[in-house]
Amino acid sequence: MTTSSAAPAPATSAWRLMDPPHATSLDEPDAWAYRGIAEMHAAAAVVDIGNADAAPTPIGVLVGMNNQSYVRKLRRIAVVDTPAGPQVVGEATVFLQVRANPELAIGGIVVHPEHRGRGIATALAQWSRDTARAEGRTSFMTYVDFGPQKPAGETLAPASGSGEVAADLPGVLLAQKLGLTLQLVERRSRIDLPVLPEAVSRFEAESRAVAGDAYRVHTWTAPMPEEWIEQYAALEQALSDDEPRGGLEVESDVWDVERIRTEEAAMTAKGDQYVVTAAEHVATGELVAMTMLQWNDLQPEHTNQQATVVLRTHRGHRLGMLVKAVNLREHARLRPQAQRIYTWNNEENPHMLAINIALGFVPAGGCANFQGPLT
Ligand SMILES: CC(C)(COP(=O)(O)OP(=O)(O)OC[C@H]1O[C@@H](n2cnc3c(N)ncnc32)[C@H](O)[C@@H]1OP(=O)(O)O)[C@@H](O)C(=O)NCCC(=O)NCCS
Repeated sequence: MTTSSAAPAPATSAWRLMDPPHATSLDEPDAWAYRGIAEMHAAAAVVDIGNADAAPTPIGVLVGMNNQSYVRKLRRIAVVDTPAGPQVVGEATVFLQVRANPELAIGGIVVHPEHRGRGIATALAQWSRDTARAEGRTSFMTYVDFGPQKPAGETLAPASGSGEVAADLPGVLLAQKLGLTLQLVERRSRIDLPVLPEAVSRFEAESRAVAGDAYRVHTWTAPMPEEWIEQYAALEQALSDDEPRGGLEVESDVWDVERIRTEEAAMTAKGDQYVVTAAEHVATGELVAMTMLQWNDLQPEHTNQQATVVLRTHRGHRLGMLVKAVNLREHARLRPQAQRIYTWNNEENPHMLAINIALGFVPAGGCANFQGPLT
């Protein structure tokens, strides 16, 4: 085995590490790497989580690499040479936030299920830590996605709160071998569609009855309306400031209008679509709550829940449920063919979990977040 990034090795089943070439379009020959990364993630997700819904699309990888003004993205891949060309069998990413968390590097490592146990992750982890150190980072964070099956053996829980992960998962063992500690468990929940329209209407009516006339809801799809974009950015900022993070040492990121526009342009370039429902406080004209559902027609079966937030001073009026119920109704109208929606919540966020459980979301695995010093 070699870990060189030099010219392609002769055809062999041995793996080697290399920097993926950057293609500016999927039509270019160099796009093999981004296509291979997406395929490798899909194969891994089927084994690790039970389906490929969470895998990136090739265009998603490409657009992500074209957009680095808020998060710099460094990547290394493991490949084996085949008669058809190089096959991606592993990937490491190191994400560096540009405007916040100057000490932090966020790493991700995935190895193709058929190529595990051959030291590939060990080499990718070495590259990740060397790269983070060379960038002056002193703290390393990584995550392990896991499926819905209940752990049969021992589990690991974060010191700061709730949630657990099977202690014998390869990713958990690797993270610990890297000196990292479990700091937060996120729950992935799934709701199978359609949600009965009567149920959505009931949730909407019940929450409207509590919220009263003091609030008015607005729903939109891209492009973000000029009228609301500044307040929408403020809500994203509030979410980043408020989100419980367990034992993770991470400061909030910076959100403003320019960033919302940049993110929206990237979503459009990937073919992502969304629907937002927000609540306006009528007396002040202020947007005080919002929720977003996002999807891509390249992955027709599922939709992902993105941010949901209610400003602190407006909590307790059922606005979280109201915006979610209205958004579910709009999503059903815009995307009737979708079969499921996923949402992610920190296990230490009981209010958000309670709303999702009431709506009918059921646990579908999760994500264990590890962090520790870069030694
Ligand atoms: C975790 C993962 C990246 C390991 O890839 P790999 O190439 O098989 O790993 P390596 O052969 O380099 O082994 C690295 C370490 O992982 C752990 N590990 C990997 N496979 C294991 C297994 N089947 N049983 C126990 N430990 C395992 C061990 O700590 C191992 O070190 P060791 O051999 O010194 O004990 C791979 O299983 C994977 O892609 N899992 C899903 C994604 C994920 O969980 N990533 C988290 C990264 S922290």
